[in-house]
Amino acid sequence: MKKEEIKKSVRQGYAKVATQGSSCCGPSSPCCGPSDRSVDISKKIGYTDEELGSIPDGANLGLGCGNPVALASLKEGDIVVDLGSGPGLDCFLAADKVGKKGKVIGIDMTPEMLEKARENAGKGSYSNVEFRLGEIEHLPVADNSADVVISNCVINLSPDKQKVFGETFRVLKPGGRIMVSDIVLTRPLPEKIRESIDAYIDCISGAITKEEYLHTVKAAGFSEVSIIDEMTIPVEEWVNDPIASSITEKLEITTEEARDILATVVSVKVKGVKST
Ligand SMILES: C[S@@+](CC[C@H](N)C(=O)[O-])C[C@H]1O[C@@H](n2cnc3c(N)ncnc32)[C@H](O)[C@@H]1O
Repeated sequence: MKKEEIKKSVRQGYAKVATQGSSCCGPSSPCCGPSDRSVDISKKIGYTDEELGSIPDGANLGLGCGNPVALASLKEGDIVVDLGSGPGLDCFLAADKVGKKGKVIGIDMTPEMLEKARENAGKGSYSNVEFRLGEIEHLPVADNSADVVISNCVINLSPDKQKVFGETFRVLKPGGRIMVSDIVLTRPLPEKIRESIDAYIDCISGAITKEEYLHTVKAAGFSEVSIIDEMTIPVEEWVNDPIASSITEKLEITTEEARDILATVVSVKVKGVKST
């Protein structure tokens, strides 16, 4: 599939998530809407009750695969960019940490998602958060302007990950750093999964191996690149997830095969530094 077609499908998938709360990025990311299930899974992937209670209603659609803010060591006054900010969950958590002297810029290519994020910012009266429409492969952010770039379960969705990390490097100040949560693989996926656009939108088919991922970050110029946390996605969550089930049904994958495949899907938090 061509890169632009992939992006179009991803954008349509997340427009649907934003407007209807259906379809989503995997059961690591519980499907959509402030359900008990999405709260449960958000807790399993690293959010605390306090964090989830501090954000505006509607900002957690359960689309993440980790909690990048928890490990980003944000300071007051930091300028933070969130790649693929969705409904704004991590931007709002970051905004509390950087305070009024700091700023958080969320970037998302799906207008419906951006609208939701802006609505959420209004509900919480955040004066230090701005949402910008744009692609993470062409960041609408000035060179050398950010202290930290975060992202949560988004870069796997990009058909041009090298460009994303290149852009990330460009916008960071010297000494700036990344802290991204993402999905990677411990071995390549079977072809029928790789070719499924549903599985792509569900944050599986676009994922690359852990080694390729780290190589891509380093190739963009980052130093001190490492995985600082790693978690397998609880297979039961996927097996019981309605979207994941419809994909396995469509692709005629047995539960046993699905378990085998999903055991290779890992959520990681990756750090890297733009050396001075
Ligand atoms: C799985 S959701 C994660 C949202 C958010 N980070 C969270 O944890 O709630 C992926 C988001 O990334 C956006 N996205 C996907 N590919 C993108 C790209 N190439 N450029 C900008 N945004 C993108 C989608 O529109 C969607 O809002």
